[in-house]
Amino acid sequence: MQVTLKIFRYNPETDKKPHYAKYKLEAEPTDRVLDLLEYVKGNFDGTLSFRRSCAHGICGSDAMRINGRNRLACKMLVHELHSSKITVEPILGLAIIKDLIVDMEPFFANYRSVMPYFVNDEPAPKQERLQSPEDRERFDDTTKCILCACCTASCPSFWANDEYAGPAAIVAAHRFIFDSRDRAAAERLEILNQQFGVYRCHTIFNCTDACPREIQVTRAIGEVKRAIATGKID
Ligand code: SF4
Ligand code: F3S
Ligand code: FES
Repeated sequence: MQVTLKIFRYNPETDKKPHYAKYKLEAEPTDRVLDLLEYVKGNFDGTLSFRRSCAHGICGSDAMRINGRNRLACKMLVHELHSSKITVEPILGLAIIKDLIVDMEPFFANYRSVMPYFVNDEPAPKQERLQSPEDRERFDDTTKCILCACCTASCPSFWANDEYAGPAAIVAAHRFIFDSRDRAAAERLEILNQQFGVYRCHTIFNCTDACPREIQVTRAIGEVKRAIATGKID
């Protein structure tokens, strides 16, 4: 099939303003949008800039807006778009560095702010810190995050103010808050009870719709809100 790929182009060093470049190319319905971008870069314009690494939905580096929705280019197949017209743009809410590449630093600063690491200063047992399957299940969903930013960059509260921790950071906090072996839940809940914490979330659900790992993001945020309100982690 023939597809028309319309790609957002902007080089702040040379362009006064962004523009869209159109490319017509042959594609298989099972091609991924990432394959099309690679084709354009390899055959039409080597200056086209975008991030990618694993090409298999694991590294989280190729989040972009594809026909208006945040997606990983390596997981989006052409036939899933139900259109031969494909528009590719950078994710919103983060400054553009070039073409489809955005500055991820505010996103990672928010991630770092919630202590996204295991904390337990109690003497380690001889073998390992045991956990029941039920306790492990409690935070299983939020272990799946690949930090792609599809969720945070689709959240109107984050667009309004990038100091809002955002759904990805709250998912990262959830993964440790509900881990029975961790001892820093109270600190994380305190951080997320601040002005730019969980209460900036107005349950809009864009984050859940956007997540390529199908994490129940809004539910996780709700569980963190409830833990703050009740002072209980259950
Ligand atoms: Fe990406 Fe989902 Fe993690 Fe958000 S929660 S960063 S959308 S994997
Ligand atoms: Fe934003 Fe998701 Fe909440 S889109 S407002 S973080 S439910
Ligand atoms: Fe790694 Fe798409 S290139 S997730």
